[in-house]
Amino acid sequence: MVDTFDDSDYQLSMDNIPKHIAIIMDGNGRWAKKRGLQRIAGHKEGMNNVKTIAITASDFGVKVLTLYAFSTENWGRPTSEVNFLMRLPIDFFSVFMPDLMKNNIKVIATGLIEKIPKNTRQIIQRAMDDTKDNTGMILNFAFNYGGRADILEATKALAQKVKDNEFSVDAIDEKIFEDNLLTNVLGELADPDLLIRTSGETRISNFMLWQLAYTEMVFNDNLWPDYSSEDLEHDIIKYQNRDRRFGKLN
Ligand code: IPE
Ligand code: IPE
Ligand code: MG
Repeated sequence: MVDTFDDSDYQLSMDNIPKHIAIIMDGNGRWAKKRGLQRIAGHKEGMNNVKTIAITASDFGVKVLTLYAFSTENWGRPTSEVNFLMRLPIDFFSVFMPDLMKNNIKVIATGLIEKIPKNTRQIIQRAMDDTKDNTGMILNFAFNYGGRADILEATKALAQKVKDNEFSVDAIDEKIFEDNLLTNVLGELADPDLLIRTSGETRISNFMLWQLAYTEMVFNDNLWPDYSSEDLEHDIIKYQNRDRRFGKLN
């Protein structure tokens, strides 16, 4: 069914806030192009918007906000753009760390972090260390993340464990599989309740393929730098009016 839900008559219910929201932050390049700017200007504006949306999500009581910041396929972009994207976490944390601390936000990263440049890795690690005792929302950056890579790495780890006689093939169940995915650090909150993709594209682009099995999806037409706190509120209202059945009957 096409998404024709009109949320204008509905209000946000604080009783049914999705615990884990994941966002595919798409449209930075188009935002810049519309203004006659270089694509990287869109990425910079997009980075500033991360702070706004993270604080709004935290204020709403979201427990985990996962942001798709760089995919395993994004390495295929021009080197200058890739280099800029690799430097963005450095700018982000140097500017916004005080805001994250003030809001009690804990930073984590899921992705093939060991494959990104050392200085970027170090700054992400420092942000994780500095916020590790914060008890509020978890801000999870999916950086150099790919759903297929996530599943493939888990499969390899499991094969190795069977080979090392840690457990038998038959012992592998969904729980053990999930323990070996990059999102295992999120425990029971690993699966997003709500996935939002901005910019009007209606695809997953290799994001959290296992974890999205029963996630509600909302596709928002706004480009990521234009995606506002009100948009987030409206998209959560859409979620709140969905009927989650998980394959069962009501
Ligand atoms: C999303 O914006 C950010 C990343 C993928 C890193 P894009 O760069 O994909 O912007 P568009 O889709 O080209 O407009
Ligand atoms: C998905 O956006 C990746 C991120 C937002 C980090 P892309 O712009 O890379 O996806 P496609 O190419 O449109 O599928
Ligand atoms: Mg894109």
